[in-house]
Formats: sequence, C-alpha cells, structure tokens
Amino acid sequence: MERTLVMVKPDAVRRKQVGEVIRRFETAGLTIRALKMVCLDRRDAEGFYQVHRERPFFASFTQFMSSGPTVAMVLEGPEAISRVRQLMGATDPARAEPGTIRRDLATSIEQNVVHGSDSPESATYEIPYFFSALELCPYEREPN
Ligand code: TYD
Ligand code: MG
Repeated sequence: MERTLVMVKPDAVRRKQVGEVIRRFETAGLTIRALKMVCLDRRDAEGFYQVHRERPFFASFTQFMSSGPTVAMVLEGPEAISRVRQLMGATDPARAEPGTIRRDLATSIEQNVVHGSDSPESATYEIPYFFSALELCPYEREPN
C-alpha cells in the first residue's frame, strides 16, 4: 500500500470541479484516507512547494496557490503515487494525454487543477504538511 498527497487547486474549486476530480480518483479504485478544505497563505504555499523556490514560476505560482481554498486529501492504494500521476496527466495541460484530469479540465500550466506527490519521499513531506495521524482514518472501502 502506498499513500499520496493530492490537492484540488484553487482554480478547480472556483470552477466547481471538486466533485469531478475526486470522482475520478474514487472510480479508479483509490481509497480516500483523509480529506479537508484549507486556505493556504503565501508562506504555506511557499513551504509546501519549497523544492521549486529557485524556479522562475515560483512567485506567480505560490500567489495562485494562496488565491483561494484548496481541497487536500490523502489517497491510498497499490502504487497510488504513480496511478494518481497518470490520472492527473502532464503538468502542461496542452501536453497531457486525452482523458486525463489536466487535459480535460485545466486552463494553463500554472492553473492546472490538481497536485499529486511525485515520489514516496515527497509524500512523506507533503502528507504531514496537511494531516495529523488522527486525521488518517482506517476503514475498508467496498470494491469497485
Ligand atoms: P511540477 O512539480 O514541475 O509539476 P507537477 O505539478 O506536474 O508535479 O511543478 C509544480 C507546479 O508548479 C505545477 O503544477 C504548476 C507550477 N508550474 C508553473 O506554474 N509553471 C511551470 O512552468 C511549471 C513547470 C510548473
Ligand atoms: Mg511536482
């Protein structure tokens, strides 16, 4: 079993796409282990994305990520990290495969609807950034 930190970003929350994004992950068989809406301030967004702090898009992107609420969740399943990344599609929606979340819903490389951890090391940093152990609920989901 693997866990990954997923966010529905502020663009998709504003566009009423929270349910659609979560539906795709549920339908793919991933288990929702934790879920909440949060408002990141600039510092929160900068801390979460600190690995990108030297990149040219960092200021604009962290401003966007603190522009409204985000829905954060922990998804769990076999190979959850790579499965979520496949469902998300490439960072740039114009380059994402048809049928992926970003290709279908995203409007730009910056406002690209969804975040998913890119490695087990990233997930280990990102999950406790949002969730305490108390918020990670054990239960059995029904099979699809
Ligand atoms: P990155 O980790 O490369 O992409 P991904 O979300 O697919 O793991 O970049 C993190 C976020 O930074 C990305 O989702 C959107 C933003 N970003 C930009 O705004 N401009 C860019 O040119 C890139 C590469 C990323
Ligand atoms: Mg990334």
